[in-house]
Amino acid sequence: MFIKLAPSILSADFSDLKNEVKKLEKSGADLVHIDVMDGCFVENITIGAPVIKSLRKNTNLFFDVHLMVINPEKHIEKFIESGADNITVHAETTYHLDALLNRIKSFGKKASVAINPATPICLIENVLGVVDMVLVMTVNPGWGGQKFIHYTLEKIRNLSELRTKKGYDFEIEVDGGINEQTVIECVKAGANVIVAGSYVFENEDIERAIKKLKESVEK
Ligand code: DX5
Ligand code: ZN
Repeated sequence: MFIKLAPSILSADFSDLKNEVKKLEKSGADLVHIDVMDGCFVENITIGAPVIKSLRKNTNLFFDVHLMVINPEKHIEKFIESGADNITVHAETTYHLDALLNRIKSFGKKASVAINPATPICLIENVLGVVDMVLVMTVNPGWGGQKFIHYTLEKIRNLSELRTKKGYDFEIEVDGGINEQTVIECVKAGANVIVAGSYVFENEDIERAIKKLKESVEK
């Protein structure tokens, strides 16, 4: 499967997001990963739909919106209107996962599900035929710059096997602790959408960082 690189703007300069996104556009990013945190599901509070709407006017890049909020059903319409191309909801945040995913799809947008490191695949097994992508969290959500959790690789492998066995076509995204080494392990396990925050933005040269990650998996 084609590898896509999705820099997370969580590690970008929030006072200059417009230019940060423009930089990503010029640097070969395939998607922009946007982390929405509510201070309840996770400790941090980041950005919401109004900020995404403002950014939308400045780029045509694909907006991969990762909702880390409780009661996501309350907010879906606002994020659709803001210009999200994909909305990912956490399986741990809703009682009605199937209904929510189908509602996102009814707006013509991609609908994806995320699971925390400790959440087993069986929790989302019944919606694997509904989703466009499964986001396997490779750190506990809430912060950038954390250490990759290795046991999540087995979940990626199992998901990839299930996909083949059942003939599904969802993509597998990984998020958290991605660097030149961990990216190789994730892709080997079956992931093809790679989120990277601190690795990209803490590098002096964003373009070089993106290129390096892509090259690591092409070897
Ligand atoms: C964490 C976020 C990630 C974060 C990853 O909850 O979902 O997208 O930006 O940051 P790094 O790549 O620094 O681990
Ligand atoms: Zn994320």
